[in-house]
Amino acid sequence: MESIKLDISKAAQFLNPGSVEGYAPQVAAAQEALENGTCPGNDFLGWLHLPSSITPSFLNEVQTVAKTLREKCEVVVVAGIGGSYLGARAVIEALSNSFAWLIKDKQNPTILFAGNNIGEDYLYELTEYLKDKRFGVINISKSGTTTETALAFRLLKKQCETQRGKEEARNVIVAVTDANKGAARTAANQEGYKTFVIPDNVGGRFSVLTPVGLLPIAVAGFNIEQLISGAQQMEQETGKDRPFSENIAARYAAVRQALYSQAGKKIEIIVNFQPKLHFMSEWWKQLYGESEGKDLKGIFPAACDFTTDLHSMGQWIQEGERSIFETVLSVEKPNNQLLFPHDDENLDGLNFLEGKRVDEVNKMAELGTRLAHVDGSVPNIRISIPTLNEYYLGQLIYFFEKACGISGLVQQVNPFNQPGVEAYKKNMFALLDKPGYEAESKAIRERL
Ligand code: PA5
Repeated sequence: MESIKLDISKAAQFLNPGSVEGYAPQVAAAQEALENGTCPGNDFLGWLHLPSSITPSFLNEVQTVAKTLREKCEVVVVAGIGGSYLGARAVIEALSNSFAWLIKDKQNPTILFAGNNIGEDYLYELTEYLKDKRFGVINISKSGTTTETALAFRLLKKQCETQRGKEEARNVIVAVTDANKGAARTAANQEGYKTFVIPDNVGGRFSVLTPVGLLPIAVAGFNIEQLISGAQQMEQETGKDRPFSENIAARYAAVRQALYSQAGKKIEIIVNFQPKLHFMSEWWKQLYGESEGKDLKGIFPAACDFTTDLHSMGQWIQEGERSIFETVLSVEKPNNQLLFPHDDENLDGLNFLEGKRVDEVNKMAELGTRLAHVDGSVPNIRISIPTLNEYYLGQLIYFFEKACGISGLVQQVNPFNQPGVEAYKKNMFALLDKPGYEAESKAIRERL
């Protein structure tokens, strides 16, 4: 089987010769610390050998529950936020028909997402849409207490029970949560829902290859065995004994850190030339943003969809402040073929493209952009994906996770915690007069 590839040549040219290789000892130390469990955040290293430890019988169990949901539901709502949401959505959108939501697909239930915002209109419109639908819910929350998810679940549970009856609702509500604690666990135990456990040692943003991602992906009709098998291959290919020159996760981590600390490149923009990868970029943003942005340092992860955003952010990237570098996700072979037709009148002047594939134009746009941005002093990293399928997405996910762990450790932060996300929650609870927050409520009101 092929693998995804990494090309850093057009980024390394912005660094002193040997800079990337200069990181080899730090990267090796980071890999050693991950393997030996001696790094900060070492109680969250369960993702490291997750692909190779997943058994066929576990995947079967996920498939069995997915089959029940697929048979009993025309719509399945996945409630979750952050790491309990983005991975599943990234894979499902990358593999789905772009117009899946318009197509009456008898084979696969429609997958919708909730619990990732507190928009009243969003939740109202969702509940309206579900009114005449046979729907089920996958409630995903590791802590089991996340407000956005808990709010959505409360609404969805009630509606599901009202529409389907309490008994049948129990068959179509599944919880993916902690083994023992949190409100999601308590509710699941009380109601007798089928549950899957998020392992203690796997943090949210590293959890897509647990049931957090696997269950929704299987319900959507995609092959989770292939996803895991791609991740397994990447686990091997990025192992600590791989030489630095051959280890793409090590090299990606090294070039990022070199660009950040030696070339003043503070912002990394992940770009795709396939709209289906939009949510893969969102997942990547969360993975790198929460892992590295702390202790007053970290590369700011941003994302653009090209060529769409070349008509907006393209100007900034070409000529704005030179504090950015780009990482391009390039899909070598689309799954479909579409040729440009001949037009007798040629009013648009596009007959020179007659008989060419749409992808050929896209690839030339990609190459042209790469050259233009490099000319404009934007270092360019390219990750090529042979084609969009479960296997290569599994590789891509594990590649990014491994590189993130290494990169965070090289940057000397704990890549596996996220203390900063508590600040807004504390203020929100104080402002909402949550019991237990009386002192904070008083203090915050005095500041308003
Ligand atoms: O990466 C993380 O840990 C976070 O983004 C969490 O996934 C997110 O906050 C959701 O948390 P929970 O699964 O506890 O609801």
